Amino acid sequence: MTQHITDATTDAITDRDAGRGWWHDAVIYQVYPRSFADADGDGMGDLPGVTARLPHLRDLGVDAVWLSPFYASPQADAGYDVADYRVVDPVFGTLADADALVRRAHELGLRVIVDIVPNHCSDQHEWFRAALADGPASPLRERFHFRPGRGPGGELPPNDWESVFGGPAWTRTTDPDGTPGDWYLHLFAPEQPDFDWEHPAVREEFRSVLRFWLDLGVDGFRVDVAHGLIKAPGLPDVGHGEQVKLLGAAPVPYFDQDGVHEIYRDWRALLDGYDGERIAVAEAWTPTVERSALYLRPDELHQAFNFTYLTTGWDAAALRAVIDRSLAAMNSVAAPATWVLSNHDVVRHTTRFADGDPARGLRRARAATLLMLALPGSAYLYQGEELGLPEVTDLPDEVRQDPAFFRGAGQGSGQPSGQEGTRDGCRVPLPWSGVRPPFGFGPVAGGPSWLPQPAGWADLTVAAQQGDPASTLELYRTALALRRAHPALGAGRDVAWEEAPAGVLAFRRTAAGRTLVVTTNLTGRPVTLPAPGTPLLCSLNSRAPGADLGGPGTDAVLPPDATVWWER
Ligand code: NOJ
Repeated sequence: MTQHITDATTDAITDRDAGRGWWHDAVIYQVYPRSFADADGDGMGDLPGVTARLPHLRDLGVDAVWLSPFYASPQADAGYDVADYRVVDPVFGTLADADALVRRAHELGLRVIVDIVPNHCSDQHEWFRAALADGPASPLRERFHFRPGRGPGGELPPNDWESVFGGPAWTRTTDPDGTPGDWYLHLFAPEQPDFDWEHPAVREEFRSVLRFWLDLGVDGFRVDVAHGLIKAPGLPDVGHGEQVKLLGAAPVPYFDQDGVHEIYRDWRALLDGYDGERIAVAEAWTPTVERSALYLRPDELHQAFNFTYLTTGWDAAALRAVIDRSLAAMNSVAAPATWVLSNHDVVRHTTRFADGDPARGLRRARAATLLMLALPGSAYLYQGEELGLPEVTDLPDEVRQDPAFFRGAGQGSGQPSGQEGTRDGCRVPLPWSGVRPPFGFGPVAGGPSWLPQPAGWADLTVAAQQGDPASTLELYRTALALRRAHPALGAGRDVAWEEAPAGVLAFRRTAAGRTLVVTTNLTGRPVTLPAPGTPLLCSLNSRAPGADLGGPGTDAVLPPDATVWWER
C-alpha cells in the first residue's frame, strides 16, 4: 500500500485508527429541507416530510443525514439568513418536529447533522435590528462590522470587497434621524450581515447555540462559511477589484484567516464534552487541500468538504492528482479524507459531466459515484443524485429565488457554470412517485412545489426506479450495501495505484485479507486490459456486472465512462 504519511505522524494515526470514530468512513446524505418532501402541502418541503421519508435513506444505506438550515428565517438566502438560531421556521415545522426527526432517525440507525451559520445572520435577527435602531455609536453595532464610508460624504463603501452574490459587500444604513449613516459588511446578500467574531458576545452566543442543538440530540454540525469568520485586521482592500472567489488560489483578507482556528479549538472542546461522538464538518473553500487540513488538526474540526475534488473535471490525470493530494493532506493531520460531487450550491454532476449530452452525463455521473464510494474516507451525497437527477436549466426567471440570480453573481462566482452561476436548478423538489408534478413531493396530486419540476421526471421517481436493476437508485443501493459489507471499501487511508493505460484510473485496496480493484475508464472509448479480478459491480448495470467484462485470466473490455469494482 502506498505510504503518504511521515514517521512523525504514524503513531498518532495508528492510535486514532484503533478506535476510529464513525465519521471516518461515513456516507452522509444532504437533505435540502425545502426540496425533500412536503408533508403539509404548501409546496415547500418540511421537517415532518423529512421524517416520513427517512426509511428511504435507511434503505439507501447511508450512515447519516445532514440537514440544510430550517431555522427561523426570512428566506432571503433559502434559510442561510438566520433570524433565530433556536427556533424552527414555521415553513418547516416546529421544534417538536425537529426533535421527532432526530429521534426517528436514531431509531433507524441514522445520525443527524444540522447546519450552523456563524459567519452571518439575517438582517431580521434581533441583534442586528437592535444595532440599527440604536444608532451610529451604539456598542450593539460592535457585534457586526459597521464602518463609515469613504469619500467626502461617506458615500463610497469602506473598502473594495465584493459580495459572493455580486455587487459591493457593503450596504449603507440610514440613521434613526433619516440621514445616510455607516455601512455594514455582508460577504453574501445585504440581508446577511457578517458577525464580528472578535466580539466575545458572538463567541458566547454560538457556544450556547451549539449546546442547544447538541442537547436536543443532534450528532454534529456542518459549519457554513467556516473559513470566513475572521477578517484581516483593518479590513484592508483586496486591491485587485475582483469579485470574491469561493475557491480562489490567491489569499484574500476575508477568507481563511489563521484566527479562525482558535474558534474551532474552542468548539472541539465543547463537542468533546458530549457523549456519542458529536462532530463538525467545515464548509471551507480554501485555496488548497493543505489549507483545508489545518481545520482538521486533532483539536479542531472532524471533517472538511473536499471542494477541490468537487471542482475537478472528468479527467483521469487531474482526478488521480487530487486523490493523492487529498489523502496526503488529510493523513498529515490524521483526519479522514472526504469526497463530494454535488451539493445545493453547484450544478449537479450529472449535468457538469455531460458536455452537452445528457446520456453521457448520467453514465459519467454513475461512474464518478462508484469511483468516489471506493475511496478511503467519508463521502457526501446530495439529495436526488441517487435518482440521477440532472440540473434543471430552463427555469423561468419568475420562479427563481436564488439571491445570486438577482445580484448577478454570474460567471466567476466560484461556482461551476450552468445557469450563470446561480443555484435554483439543483434545488428543484425531489420526485418520489406518480406520473405528474409534484410527483409525490407533496401530499396532493397536482399540488404546488416551490420550484416547478420537469414533466420528464416521471421516469426518475423513486417509485419508478425501485426494483429496476438498470436504475441509478438501485446502483446506489447496491454500491452502499457492498460498501458496508466489504472491508476494503471506505476504510483505510490510502490507495495503491495499478498500472493502467492513459485515461484509465486503476487502484487497489486491501483489508482483512480481501482485495478490491477499482477501474474507471475516462478515455471515451472501450479499453482492453487483463481482467483485474472478478467483477463485483459495474456503474452501467448494478445487477449484471459481469455480463461482458470477463474474469480472472481473461481480457476485460472496460466500457467508456464506466467504473468497475473487482474482487481480486
Ligand atoms: C454556503 C451555503 O452552502 C450557501 O447556500 C449559502 O448561500 C452561503 N454559504 C451563505 O450562507
